[in-house]
Amino acid sequence: MNIVLLGPPGAGKGTQARRIQERYGIPQLSTGDMLRAAVASGSPQGRRAKAIMDSGQLVPDEAMIEIIAERTAQPDCRKGFILDGFPRTTRQAEALAKMFTEKGLKLDHVIEMTVDEAALVERISGRFTCGQCGTVYHDSTKRPRRDGVCDVCGSTKFVRRDDDKPETVRARLKVYRDQTAPILPYYRRRGQLKTVDGMADIDAVTAALFKLLGEP
Ligand code: AP5
Ligand code: MG
Repeated sequence: MNIVLLGPPGAGKGTQARRIQERYGIPQLSTGDMLRAAVASGSPQGRRAKAIMDSGQLVPDEAMIEIIAERTAQPDCRKGFILDGFPRTTRQAEALAKMFTEKGLKLDHVIEMTVDEAALVERISGRFTCGQCGTVYHDSTKRPRRDGVCDVCGSTKFVRRDDDKPETVRARLKVYRDQTAPILPYYRRRGQLKTVDGMADIDAVTAALFKLLGEP
């Protein structure tokens, strides 16, 4: 099963992609996480990406398309994958369609998570993630069961993203409106776009997503 999750920064793509990954045994391919790993490695590609990400802008299409082509060719993607953060421009959506045709793959679900923009800055400024396994938390809405200890892997190391400052979040939201939202009609025209209410609580969003993916 191949899935694309769409939605603005803070919509909950990463939170829900991890739950789908766990339930269906297909990997979450987060282009943001891949870029952050490249930044952490200190590679020249990572250094270039960091400057762009810290300004809230998008990394060039060609680089992203190449990353996704390589990642989806890995053996763990044979049963399918969840794209979280890709495609983000019409050019990326077209490249993805071409890649699916060439590889004989089917895009089974394109799901938009809709959210009120007003909620997003608050969601993102309260976000922190486990430094070991990447589980996503929030200062007020999703704290670990034991303070300072990850529910999933027990790590006590948490991280906050450099691009989660309110002014950068606002730039990311503008980029979403200008460059990413235009791909919604692209998928709508093809009859592929489904929607879930991303303002519901996290478990309710998961239930709605699992239903769209075919669960009773
Ligand atoms: P990326 O890492 O993809 O960031 P993003 O799209 O801005 O999205 P976020 O990760 O901030 O939000 P999310 O939807 O995953 O929400 P989350 O689940 O964490 O990209 C970062 C940068 O990399 C980009 O700006 C760009 O520079 C570059 N990049 C990446 N992909 C690219 C591409 N394809 N092309 C070009 N450049 C690219 O949730 C957020 C918070 O809300 C959490 O604290 C969570 O606990 C909480 N929360 C989640 N759901 C709910 C809920 N239902 N109710 C209450 N709180 C909730
Ligand atoms: Mg994310």
